[in-house]
Amino acid sequence: MNDFKPGLDGVIATDTNVSYLDVDNEEIVIRGYDLIELAGSKTYPEVAYLVINGNLPNTKELNSFQKLLLDDSAFPSETYDLLNLIPKSSMVMDVIRTGISYLAGFHSEQNLMDTSENQNLNKGTRLIAEVAILTANSHRILNGQKIIKPDSSKTFSENFISMILGKSVSQKQVEIFDKILTCYIEHEMPNSTFAARVIASTLSDMYGAFVGGISSLKGPLHGGANEAAIHMILDIKEKGGSKIAERYILDKLKNKERIMGFGHRVYMKKYDPRALFLKDYISDLESNIENGEELHNIYKIVENVMAREKGLYPNTDYPIALLFYMLGIPIPLYTPIFFASRTAGLVAHVIEQHNNNRLFRPRVLYTGPRGLKL
Ligand code: SDX
Repeated sequence: MNDFKPGLDGVIATDTNVSYLDVDNEEIVIRGYDLIELAGSKTYPEVAYLVINGNLPNTKELNSFQKLLLDDSAFPSETYDLLNLIPKSSMVMDVIRTGISYLAGFHSEQNLMDTSENQNLNKGTRLIAEVAILTANSHRILNGQKIIKPDSSKTFSENFISMILGKSVSQKQVEIFDKILTCYIEHEMPNSTFAARVIASTLSDMYGAFVGGISSLKGPLHGGANEAAIHMILDIKEKGGSKIAERYILDKLKNKERIMGFGHRVYMKKYDPRALFLKDYISDLESNIENGEELHNIYKIVENVMAREKGLYPNTDYPIALLFYMLGIPIPLYTPIFFASRTAGLVAHVIEQHNNNRLFRPRVLYTGPRGLKL
């Protein structure tokens, strides 16, 4: 048993044709395409279609797929009643998780447990739509605001950010929001995707795999980092701004604290290509909020100190934290939006697992006592 790798660090858990992180060539491969190229020229629905079907859609395929993503009729209105019963002190990720479990009940047992590709595609596409509605409205209901239903006259991303903010935004802001969703869409085998595949490998259903995935992504070492990162930037602002930013980070590092939004199990001491792509959009939104320029200065100082002191660079959560803030998105929605985008990746991986399944069942390096007598 000498092949024990804590945290499965560097272990190949499965073969896949969904995505691959080519760190040496700094490319995130998505079904053969470069994710950054896709984010620069395609919309989230186009890339979501590619991720779950394996090919980019033609116009007809895209139109019918987008219609499904905005189809409110598939969302049982009783769900809003359920969301209203959830304690107002709940975290948005937990409300969405509950909503996913509840929505599973609207499928017959036979349909729910049907792991055929066709049924998984149907359920998966419906889940992408359902999670977006759950994301926007969970936060609204927790804050005593009226629910907003999808507007199928809008594009997916325009509709999603409008439901979140309760108002329309400029096309530039929609475009940046869409690029963020595309950058979050799929990323090989992070903890949440692995969790979903482990659950799917028992032939459990797509909804159950999603519940595992969202529970994992909630953690601050994973999807929760974007919220933690903006809280840190705002804390620096509060405590004196860019003139104390360096000292603030040095003190944290001295206390062996983690700076959220930096480092990565796979990229290690390299820049996350998604962060490199998205950081250029921060200047476009600076004037969107008060103190935008100062927050951007703090952002840059933290990045420089982390590179100099730890040789660590931003992962995607760091620029997205500031971009979401500049878009006016409520902070408790940062990680839920990450999950809403990653639903497409989870659908693809659950389908792949069910299509060619091998139950995940690792072994252990036992370090406990032996031979004890009663
Ligand atoms: C995401 O896997 C994915 O692909 C995830 C994701 C996706 O798209 O799905 O990319 C999304 O989750 C991005 C990561 C978001 N998390 C954070 O930003 C949280 C802060 N980052 C770290 O906690 C850390 O970098 C991890 C968890 C992301 C990776 O940690 P590892 O690979 O387990 O590395 P490690 O904990 O062994 O750290 C190695 C060294 C340690 O120093 P020493 O104790 O050896 O001296 O690097 C240091 C760590 O202390 N270190 C950090 C640090 N990250 C690592 N020090 C300060 N701040 C940090 N952020």
